[in-house]
Amino acid sequence: LPIALAAAVIGYLFGSIPFGLILTRAAGLGDVRSIGSGNIGATNVLRTGNRTLAAATLLLDALKASAAAWIVGYFLGEEAAIIAGFFAFIGHLFPVWIGFKGGKGVATYIGTLLGVAPIMVVLFAAVWLAVAFTTRYSSLSALVAMLVIPVALWILGNEKVAAVMAIMTLISYWKHKANISRLMSGAESKIGAKG
Ligand code: G3P
Repeated sequence: LPIALAAAVIGYLFGSIPFGLILTRAAGLGDVRSIGSGNIGATNVLRTGNRTLAAATLLLDALKASAAAWIVGYFLGEEAAIIAGFFAFIGHLFPVWIGFKGGKGVATYIGTLLGVAPIMVVLFAAVWLAVAFTTRYSSLSALVAMLVIPVALWILGNEKVAAVMAIMTLISYWKHKANISRLMSGAESKIGAKG
């Protein structure tokens, strides 16, 4: 249990760093929470018009979860790495530093995958890009990719990681509820459109 607790705390601390907020503020673009969807993630940072910053947000929000999994995994083993990745995701969604109002977890989901089942990132990216090119919805692309991943992990026999990713998928779906209702009413903003 102490190992699991240490993994959870370290994961949470990494995950709760809100890079989208930090980077947009540092670039003098104001508070990303006051534009577009109000989210702190890369998709909403892109709505500032700054692609480099959006890419950096995606990369750093992903790598904070990978780093947590890698570091914890190195010292405490494979199961602890999965716990750290999961709690990095939780940290991103519920960061204590900004009133527990965090992001939707797509980048950290990818980062956790990179930490615990790296080959799956290729599948995530392929599905995401396929849906994004067809529909131009960032949210829908992530929602579809997050369905495919646990199923693929399950089929490949990686049941433990499949179960954890499935829980993350459910939590992220819940965080995407406003996106899902916008998608259903046709009001979701497309990649490249402002707001
Ligand atoms: O799946 C991407 C998700 O984070 C959507 O972000 O800003 O469109 O709500 P946003």
